[in-house]
Amino acid sequence: MAILFQSSADRWADWQPPLTALLPGEEFRLHPGTGDPASIEFAVVWKPPIGLLASLPNLKGVLSLGAGVDHILADPTLPPNVPVVRLLDPSLAAQMAEYVTLAVLAHHRRRGDYAAQQRDGVWRVLDAPGATRRRIGIMGFGMLGEACAARLMPFGFPLAGWVRHAQTAEGVRMFAGTEQLAAFLACSDILVCLLPLTPATHGILNARALALLPNGAAVINVARGAHVVVDDLLAALESGHLSGATLDVFADEPLAPGHPLWHHPKVTVTPHIAAITRPAHAAPIIADTIQRLRAGRPVAGVVNRHKGY
Ligand code: GLV
Repeated sequence: MAILFQSSADRWADWQPPLTALLPGEEFRLHPGTGDPASIEFAVVWKPPIGLLASLPNLKGVLSLGAGVDHILADPTLPPNVPVVRLLDPSLAAQMAEYVTLAVLAHHRRRGDYAAQQRDGVWRVLDAPGATRRRIGIMGFGMLGEACAARLMPFGFPLAGWVRHAQTAEGVRMFAGTEQLAAFLACSDILVCLLPLTPATHGILNARALALLPNGAAVINVARGAHVVVDDLLAALESGHLSGATLDVFADEPLAPGHPLWHHPKVTVTPHIAAITRPAHAAPIIADTIQRLRAGRPVAGVVNRHKGY
């Protein structure tokens, strides 16, 4: 039996040393060199082609190379009973907390406005509330959301979180479900989107939701591009209702040359780098997951297909 690795050949060059060291004696195959499909027991994947996983009759587990699993669940032929496992990697959480803190502070301290003033040689002090009056709202409060809240807390920002099912978090005002979405948005001066992408969250940051944010709010999207309706975001920036946006993810990546977001003065664009899976940190987690699945032991991060994460 073998383990199929499906990402790019470049990525395999980085993953092969730690994975083969951690799982000695295992046979790895690099997609598309799958060999006999019946011999594949586990698939470690990033954006697998539709139908690939269904073509492996003896598959016992699908492991995502990232925190998100929308790229796997998007395949309508995905075998229903094979466990799909998200990557719960503290390194991803630490990187995400770093990126989100940078973006929150940049909006909070009006980095974009001062950069524009510097370009024009303008010396002018701009209004800005102190941290204790800048409310941060985090949508999605799993491992990554929690890590961001923990990093932001010492600055004194009032923190809120929005989740699907009621949950508590120390020092964070939690909101749950669609019934509480409006109240959550209304107290998010800086909104951070860390939601999983599911049919329920697709396009959740649309004109209606953005209008519920306080005037002058900023949006940080580090989840998936499809959470945001870009035309609605651009309209809210144009009207002045939103003061800025930091976007790391886009519905179509790479972001097309000439896309209006590239040169928008109120938008910061980065190429999906907020949290990058690093083989040195993630390979031990993947190896442990494979060993657990094989031994029938409990595994963290198994996706609930009904919820979509
Ligand atoms: C990256 O976007 C991930 O899902 O880890």
